[in-house]
Formats: sequence, structure tokens, C-alpha cells
Amino acid sequence: MDPIQTADSVLNEALDAEKEVKDQNDLSLFYNRFLSKKGKASTLMTLMKEVKAEHKAAFGKKVNEVKASIVSFYEAKKKELEQKELEEKLRKERIDITLPGKGNLLGRKNPFYQIIDEVEDIFVSMGYQIVSGRDVETDHFNFELLNVPKDHPSRDMQDTFYFDAERLLRTQTSAAQAHAMLENAEKTPIKMICPGKAYRRDDDDMTHSHQFAQIEGLVVDKGISLANLKATLELFVKKMFGEKREIRLRSSYFPFTEPSVEVDVSCFSCQGKGCPMCKDTGWIEILGAGMVNPKVLSMCGYDPEVYSGFAFGVGVERVAMLRYGIDDIRRFYQNDVRFLKPFPGK
Ligand code: DAH
Repeated sequence: MDPIQTADSVLNEALDAEKEVKDQNDLSLFYNRFLSKKGKASTLMTLMKEVKAEHKAAFGKKVNEVKASIVSFYEAKKKELEQKELEEKLRKERIDITLPGKGNLLGRKNPFYQIIDEVEDIFVSMGYQIVSGRDVETDHFNFELLNVPKDHPSRDMQDTFYFDAERLLRTQTSAAQAHAMLENAEKTPIKMICPGKAYRRDDDDMTHSHQFAQIEGLVVDKGISLANLKATLELFVKKMFGEKREIRLRSSYFPFTEPSVEVDVSCFSCQGKGCPMCKDTGWIEILGAGMVNPKVLSMCGYDPEVYSGFAFGVGVERVAMLRYGIDDIRRFYQNDVRFLKPFPGK
């Protein structure tokens, strides 16, 4: 075929092919076919050698025209397809600004932690240190050093989760007492609280949970008496439940304190007249306490002839439930944000 005719037929072929280009994929096939290095338009110039000298100029012009036409189609189509693609993308990603917003949920501290913070503030202001105990304890620290030997009947009430014969999930933050005393190598005075979780084999119901939290308190010094304990707890209760609250100590029994007391607070719902909250007694039990048993002092390296001390243990959930009128202990752990709404915290 005459090279000029070949050029024309390439142009015609390209014109036909242009009609078929519908998307980027077609376009890139089109490019390969005509404009790539080995494409039909790109290789036309190789025919120059077959063209007679007097027609070379005309042929060159022709080839350039054919290429220019194909390139101009290619570029225009490329732009058009890119524009289409962009429009499609914008259409898909369109944001309907008339839809109601999602709003930002502000995080809140669970009242459980708010109570711990408050109790910590109260005791830090009285010069107490805050210590962190450990959830996995040994039988030795959880029981024996607290004057609860292996066969002691009080162990029945505090059955727990055992890892092996010696290691367990602590049943009481009281275990932190023994650590505080033993770790204090100089045997200097101690004033500490230890907030943390405790675990017991228990049915889970409205007022019981197999996992709950306590705050343990321990003071050891020379000349500490029950009067100090009472004054401290009175102050704590007034700060926690209001200035008008009174406390009452009832004698009780804990192996690690002697004497031991249960502490009641005057009912803040009925002001002592009697109501369902205080079961018509005017008093609500809030914690256990007592003077550190001399046996515990001496097991933990303190001379009971020189030192005395008091200890107390208060249930975090119980305080929070009383303070805020929460009816079910399980609400603290259910991760329901609706529960947190009324407790904005400080
Ligand atoms: N550990 C006790 C319990 O879990 C609470 C308690 C009572 C702690 C008297 C004390 C205390 O430190 O002196 O029931």
C-alpha cells in the first residue's frame, strides 16, 4: 500500500476506534494501539524510507496531521474521562449537611471512680498516703498475717478464686495493711489508704457482686486510740455524706482488729426518723473498723507494747449507692453510658 494511503487508513481506523472509547480502560487500550512507541501512528514515520524523494515532505506533513488528530482526540478524551470520574466521586462522597449531627458524647467518670477520688482527697488532706495493693495475693498476706490461720471459720465467708494452694484473688484490701507494715523497714508510723478491688465467691444480685471495691485505711503510731479512729471516721463521714451526719460504733468482730466495730451513719434520707433506706432504724451501716490486733502488729514487725493503730475498710460501691441512691450494684459494671448521665463529676 502507498504510505500516504496507509497513513489515511490509520487515521480512519483511529476515528472508528475513537467511537468505542467509553472509559479509562478503553482509552489506555487506544493509546497502546496508536500512540505508544510501537503504536500504529507512532510507527508511520518508518515508512518514510519507502517514499520517493519528491513526496517525502507531503508524507511527513500527512503523518504529522494523522498523529496530531489522534493525540488531540486522546487528550480531550482523557480530560473528559477524568472530569467525569471526579464528578462521580464527588457525587458519591456528597455529604448531606441537612442531616442531624451525631454530636460529641463527653466522657464521664463512673461514679465508682468519683467516689474513690473523693475518698482519696479527704484522706490526703488528713496526711494519708495512697498505696496501691495487688489483686493477686498470697494466702499469707490475705489471711495469715491478718490473724486468719488456715482453719479459721471466718475463711468460709471469704472463699475466693484460687490460682493454686497459695495464690488467690484477694478477698479484702486489708491485705494491704500487712504489706504496708512489713515493707516499712524502719518501722516508722504509717498513715495510708489503699483503694482497690476485692473478690469473693458470691452470688451476683442487686447488692452483691463477686468483684467489688474497698478502701482500706491503716494508721499505726505511738498512742493511737479508739478516739482517734472515731474522730477520723466522723470527719470522713461528714465530708462524704454531709455535715449533719453522725456516726455510731457498734461492737463487732474481725480477726485482725481488737476491739472491732461496725460503723453506722445517721440516715440521710429520713434524718434518723426511720425509712426504708435505713430499714426504720435511723442508721445505715457503712464500714468495718477497729484497733489493729496486737497479734497483727507483732506479726508485721511492730512492737505492740510501743505501737498501736486503727484500721478500717469501706466498700466503694456501697458508699456510691448510698450517696447517689443507686439501687443495683451491677449498674457500676454494665458499661451503659446512660447510667453515667446524672454523674457529671467535678
Ligand atoms: N476486710 C473487711 C471486710 O472485707 C473490712 C474491714 C473491717 C477492714 C475492719 C478493716 C477493719 O480494716 O478494721 O469485710
